[in-house]
Amino acid sequence: MFSKLTAQAPDKIIALIAQFAADPRGGKVDLGVGVYKDAEGKTPIVRAIKTAEQRHWETETTKTYKALIGDGVFIGAMRELVLGEIEPGRVAGAQSVGGTGAIYTLLDLVRMADPNVTIWMSDPTWPNHAAIVKHLGLAARNYRYFDAATREVDFEAMRADLAAAGPGDIILLHGCCHNPTGANLTLAQWEEIAEMAVAQGFLPFVDFAYQGFGDGLEADAAGVRAMAARVPQMMIAASCSKNFGLYRDRVGAAMVLCQSPATARMARDTMETLNRVHFSFPPDHGAALVSGVLTDDALRAGWMAELEGMRLRMLKLREGLADALRREANDDRFDFLARHRGMFSRLGASPEQVERLRAEHGIYMVGDSRMNIAGLPEDRLGDLARAFISVGL
Ligand code: LMR
Repeated sequence: MFSKLTAQAPDKIIALIAQFAADPRGGKVDLGVGVYKDAEGKTPIVRAIKTAEQRHWETETTKTYKALIGDGVFIGAMRELVLGEIEPGRVAGAQSVGGTGAIYTLLDLVRMADPNVTIWMSDPTWPNHAAIVKHLGLAARNYRYFDAATREVDFEAMRADLAAAGPGDIILLHGCCHNPTGANLTLAQWEEIAEMAVAQGFLPFVDFAYQGFGDGLEADAAGVRAMAARVPQMMIAASCSKNFGLYRDRVGAAMVLCQSPATARMARDTMETLNRVHFSFPPDHGAALVSGVLTDDALRAGWMAELEGMRLRMLKLREGLADALRREANDDRFDFLARHRGMFSRLGASPEQVERLRAEHGIYMVGDSRMNIAGLPEDRLGDLARAFISVGL
């Protein structure tokens, strides 16, 4: 049986983790996998999460199963965090195993409703999007998104491509902090896509993995909420990996905005069935910590302050690197770094330049030149700028 298996291409982001760990050089710089790091290069546990965890340890009296759909308090708190007050009765929510699990559940839900849909993804997008779509046997298509010359969104091209989408098409959008480019839609552009969805009948699907890392917790949700306020139906995959720092605990929520409460109930029940066949009961621990933080005023305020600190640190690193590159290059061609938002920017290096940065300077980034901004060492931005210029950027 298993001799029939064929070699799978490794995920290029995850492969970097082992490659970086195996590099013995002291001054190596990890700009690879999207994990937040503080000034010491550490990924600390969010303080409010630590307190919630202690309380949870003190008060939890059993490890018996909860609900197949997940914890109701967690699901409700996530719905509010993402969608605010938008028509709760029309939203079906399910707890998932991280943001990836939410994406998988939602695409499987779509497949059950109509296996002939086409999933449209931005070019480029997070590689796991295409991998999941392929694994589920769904048809895939790209829409243009990024202008490699300006490093900004090419909205004209995006709009032109989406003009061909209609019923049966699912348009996958990044809620904020586009991964891998760092170039994001404006609120007006979100509104325009929402109007296209209404007029043309396509279904928006928002991957929302970085809420709070771009312009702030509320500002980052503005596009998603503008969409939800206009369209009859949409889907959202929310992750708690980054903004709650719960990476390994795998906490996420799948949400479906439906045309009516009756359809929302059907979507909810179907996601419950999907949970059962995917993993049965979703893991509770991390979700209990998130609801512990979101439902306690002091913990919530502490978490928001810490999250804002992470966001501002990444913004400062962006500005610092753009400044260093302006000095080194003697022009402003890297200023897009300061305009981008979120954890990533695509630098615009060729695969050969990315390889030289790794081999000659110990600087690791994804092959498409996506950098994790949080990994930039703040006291060595000048060195990095010199390295970038030295490989011909
Ligand atoms: C990333 O894009 O680096 C993160 O979302 C981690 C992952 O799972 O790829």
